[in-house]
Amino acid sequence: MESTQGVQDVEPIQNWGEDTAGIAGEQGVAMSAVILVKDLDQVVESNEAKQAGYSGTKEATYTLEHPEVMAWTHQFEQRATEKKIFDLFTSLHAEPSREKATIVGVLWHRFSGFMPWFLCQAAAMVSSNEKRHYVIQTAFEELGMRDASEIHPNMFWNAAQIAGVTSEARERIRSTKEPAEALTLLRTALSDSQSDAEVLGLLLGLEIPAVENIETILASLCYSEEVAKKLNEHKFFKLHRQIEIEHVRLTVSNFLRFCTTEKDKHLFIKGFDHGLEFWLQFWTTATSVISHEMVRNKKSG
Ligand SMILES: [Fe+2]
Repeated sequence: MESTQGVQDVEPIQNWGEDTAGIAGEQGVAMSAVILVKDLDQVVESNEAKQAGYSGTKEATYTLEHPEVMAWTHQFEQRATEKKIFDLFTSLHAEPSREKATIVGVLWHRFSGFMPWFLCQAAAMVSSNEKRHYVIQTAFEELGMRDASEIHPNMFWNAAQIAGVTSEARERIRSTKEPAEALTLLRTALSDSQSDAEVLGLLLGLEIPAVENIETILASLCYSEEVAKKLNEHKFFKLHRQIEIEHVRLTVSNFLRFCTTEKDKHLFIKGFDHGLEFWLQFWTTATSVISHEMVRNKKSG
């Protein structure tokens, strides 16, 4: 932008960004997540990610060790922690269950199928090619870079199927309205953004809980030891345990590089908070849909 004029005038379409083509396919891969800071050495050393082409970022200034990157990452993580995004989910559904695996598998697949559109849209909305350069990198990774067989939502679906998630469940749960409402919140936050700073902040809000997201998803799918053994070795999870720390660094560096005025910092944080609101709604929705699924299975079974 600086402004999003023109973009705002476009009539919102209900299912913008929903990848219905992915629904028809039975192939599989997924969305982005993260890696714990304590595993940093592992990330740097990771041949897995490098071999898959997830390396080679050229960053002369805002590296992982840059004091401002470290300080601001910590600040944003603290702000995210205060939202208690996962508290309800982990308190009500602490135990492994088939219902938890099914619902989290379906909801994450839907979200991951939506993200490439969202990231491309965000890249189109910012006002310079330099900003677009940084935004589009994550979208490119989500879309498998130069290998169409590695489109992440498809990779994730493959992992979900290993955990017993079926197309039937996907179609049935897709018709419930709460998951769609969470994505609508995200679409609206993006289309209502009035500045580059808000768009960039929204992207960091989406990335910041990525470590907890990926670990929560993996734990949810692993309702048995047998499934856990397979999924811990699955490419989707091995990859996402490697690459997400770079996504966070990248989006924090957008804040440092492009948001130098107080006004821009304020707008970035406004966007960031919208990202956190989405996650709160996503995991709250997952909690209630799992509960409904348990009641449904009890009645039928
Ligand atoms: Fe991904």
